[in-house]
Amino acid sequence: MILPVYLYGHPILRKETKDIPLDYPGLKDLLDNMFETMYKADGVGLAAPQIGLEDRILVIDTDSISKDDPTLKGFKKVFINAHIIERDGEEQAVEEGCLSIPKIHEKVPRQFRIRIQYLDENLQPHDEVFEGYKARVIQHEYDHLDGIMFVDRLPGIRKQMIRSKLNKIMKGDVNCSYRVKPAPRK
Ligand code: NI
Repeated sequence: MILPVYLYGHPILRKETKDIPLDYPGLKDLLDNMFETMYKADGVGLAAPQIGLEDRILVIDTDSISKDDPTLKGFKKVFINAHIIERDGEEQAVEEGCLSIPKIHEKVPRQFRIRIQYLDENLQPHDEVFEGYKARVIQHEYDHLDGIMFVDRLPGIRKQMIRSKLNKIMKGDVNCSYRVKPAPRK
């Protein structure tokens, strides 16, 4: 089932998320729906707050962008109760976008390497290191679990430049090819 993607300005995107219990009802359906929603919107990652849930769940599939970087081929993963426990390596600024911030792409500084503990879709625990673009995608989605959006990480001057576009998104003034849910009107 394709779910609406919550847009920048919606308060749920700013909430802290919680680890899910191991008997979380309907987990498989939820993960299926997250992938389906992500694919429909041509995304490579989706975090639970983007579909209105306060759970520490994110899904990633970078296969669609693996033409430029073969290491991304077949990189399809579920991260449940994810916790990044180390980050290192030099910061690099690379262009990112976000399904909750349609049509804005900016270079976001992030560290090169992360170590993350998480459960997979079968609730098996993992402790793994990721580097490069994989680490970037994970960090982007992981930020959503902490109520952080990529535009928060831009230099002030860049954020100023996109301020009016962000204001439009906050008002629901967007033209998207996928279902979205704008912030409630004040
Ligand atoms: Ni995002």
